[in-house]
Amino acid sequence: MSLHGKRVLLIVSGGIAAYKALELIRLLRGAGCGVTCVLSRSAAQFVTPLSVQALSESKVYTDLFSLTDESEMGHIQLSRAADLLVVAPASADLLARMAAGLADDLAATVLLATDKPVLVAPAMNVRMWQHPATVAAIATLVARGVQVVGPDEGPMACNEFGPGRLAEPPAILAAITARLAQAPGPLAGRHALVTSGPTHEPIDPVRYLANRSSGRQGHAIAAALAALGARVTLVSGPVTLPDPAGVAVRRVETAQQMLAACQAALPADIAVCAAAVADWRVATAASGKIKKSPGAPPLALELVANPDILATLAAAGPDRPRLVVGFAAETDALADNAAAKRTRKGCDWIVANDVSPQTGIMGGEENAVHLITATGTEDWPRLPKAEVAHRLAARIAAALA
Ligand code: C5P
Repeated sequence: MSLHGKRVLLIVSGGIAAYKALELIRLLRGAGCGVTCVLSRSAAQFVTPLSVQALSESKVYTDLFSLTDESEMGHIQLSRAADLLVVAPASADLLARMAAGLADDLAATVLLATDKPVLVAPAMNVRMWQHPATVAAIATLVARGVQVVGPDEGPMACNEFGPGRLAEPPAILAAITARLAQAPGPLAGRHALVTSGPTHEPIDPVRYLANRSSGRQGHAIAAALAALGARVTLVSGPVTLPDPAGVAVRRVETAQQMLAACQAALPADIAVCAAAVADWRVATAASGKIKKSPGAPPLALELVANPDILATLAAAGPDRPRLVVGFAAETDALADNAAAKRTRKGCDWIVANDVSPQTGIMGGEENAVHLITATGTEDWPRLPKAEVAHRLAARIAAALA
């Protein structure tokens, strides 16, 4: 989508992810968007004002210059001359100062003085992101209408793993585009129901059957549908991901709970079943912890089939969503199995992916999918899961237009 005529004030705060701001500037300029940058003092340790200026083709503001340059463009003017303020990466420190309303450097001052919408893309160490101080700061900012993009989960520069990585620049661009869109998003007025993550099926009070689903793809789809203006209900099994911004999240553990939450969320225009629902549950979970005893015979668990949520939602009835999309994780005969699954489950589309161990897709950052509809199969290239989500959301919007 073109951003011609739009202006973004990009505030870059410190951290190793600051280099990705350069890619974001490039994408914004490529979309025709005017970009003015404010570099915090620590950001200038990671990216040079000169490279930011070259890519943005605009004067770069730092504490050093602008505080002595009041005559050229004051803080207030700077904060108002854009359609949107974007903080990427947003450090824990800057988020805390925003939440507290501090104005102790140029970045914080501009953010306090603005009357424009603000979008933040946090990036920090996983412990910092999960610290109650940051959680509270984010909650305060969200309550004030600040939009949060990411962070993503993955390996971090500090050798830890978890949520805290800056969202990928294309995902930040997509959120900026949706926010700047004059017209309401193409899915405005639509309700989308998305399932995501694994389910946990109890064996006894302390043990359960589970699978390796991370929920990344389902959560990304929920975020992408919301970015196009849909009201989204995300029914999620147990995951470690943060809730996507602007999405109503219902947390469940078991397949039966997931089905009940989905049915309670109807009616919906769109259902995307991306959850890896356990096919079986233990017939009768033990009420107390099952004890091992020497010489006892092998423990046998009787498993019964779980309800098929996708097939249930797709079954004809007054509440059937207009577009029902399922996923097929296959290790062989992908296209044939997926096409058969589309018919068997009664859904409209199947997003099929190869989850053979060598693909690294299950639990990974990328996905290579095939979209199977009534009219044929499209092979999509290997893409970040967020990009797969945006493409799928765009296809859904086009199908419902
Ligand atoms: O049958 P299979 O598990 O391969 O089908 C995968 C698709 O069906 C996914 O879209 C998944 O979310 C959905 N599904 C479901 N409920 C189940 C099993 C699978 O919604 N019990």
